[in-house]
Amino acid sequence: MQHEITLFDDEVENLIKKHQTRPEHQGYIKLDGITLPEEFRQFVNTIDNFEVRDDDIWVCSFPRTGTTWTQEMVWCIANDLDFERAKVLLNDRFPYLEITAMMGTPKPSDHRHIPDIKMPEHVIDSIGFCEKLPSPRFIKTHLPFSLLPRQLKRGEKSAKIVYVARNPKDVCISYFHHGKVPHGFKGSFEDWCDLFIKDAVMYAPFWKHVLGYWKQRINNNFLFIKYEDMKRDLPSVIKRTAKFLGKNLTTDQLSILTEHLSFDSMKVNPAVNNEELTAALQKFNPSEEREEFIRRGTTEQWKTEMSPEIIKRFDDWTQENLRGTYFHF
Ligand code: A3P
Repeated sequence: MQHEITLFDDEVENLIKKHQTRPEHQGYIKLDGITLPEEFRQFVNTIDNFEVRDDDIWVCSFPRTGTTWTQEMVWCIANDLDFERAKVLLNDRFPYLEITAMMGTPKPSDHRHIPDIKMPEHVIDSIGFCEKLPSPRFIKTHLPFSLLPRQLKRGEKSAKIVYVARNPKDVCISYFHHGKVPHGFKGSFEDWCDLFIKDAVMYAPFWKHVLGYWKQRINNNFLFIKYEDMKRDLPSVIKRTAKFLGKNLTTDQLSILTEHLSFDSMKVNPAVNNEELTAALQKFNPSEEREEFIRRGTTEQWKTEMSPEIIKRFDDWTQENLRGTYFHF
């Protein structure tokens, strides 16, 4: 399949180069209109041709929308609340398809190679890792619908997809905190918001991502959920997800799982809180204050963190992008 590569205009290109200090996050390209590190070009065809299996379960999302939360919910439901096996790191149980392309594989000759960081297998060759997983596989991706493996996009397999969305202002805030360490982002929060609205952060455009999946909602193998609904009424979202996955939970199981997925339990659960990854990534950026992966876990953070001018920019941009759709948060 042919993919179109375009470059940013000079203004945005300069902003990226100025603020992103890790080398692989300075050379962003637009691949079919999606902002991705240049290294992604080497992976795009392999992902197109990735063999999907009928019993795969995929969790897809824009970064920082509650992906980890959704993955743990889906995995636990699909595995009949097997909390013993859930002690295995989520990244091994539910790997991130394209992480190798996003982080760059460190090689001994590479400027990014740091001798005391031992990259796990699911990072060194994430696609190969996913290919080798036994069925049923659980796979996470942040790719937009348009860049999913061909068999998944075309519905050639009965694999299931769960997509989680979150309002863009809170996503932007969460992504800013998360982006400092792995992307080496050194600009201000306002600079970050500017790049976010200009569709120049990884996996942007945000709205194209959400709406691309939203269009799939009529498909029986597809479930669209929202972070805000999980916050408001987690048991209801668990029940919807269980129904979608063909599982029945007893009242007791529902309350045990709700507790397991609470912010307080997930924050201290080493299988899901990504503390190892955060610590490893920090070695790339030792001067940066460490941010927890499971950080605040609240809605409407934008009300206290964003200036009225930025809120207005976001609202105008949202209105423009949602014109003609019924989508809302
Ligand atoms: P904040 O940075 O706003 O706290 P992702 O997994 O897609 O990277 O999303 C990360 C966001 O989900 C973070 O948001 C994180 O705190 C939040 N999150 C993770 N687990 C959660 C939970 N159990 N309850 C509420 N929010 C959770």
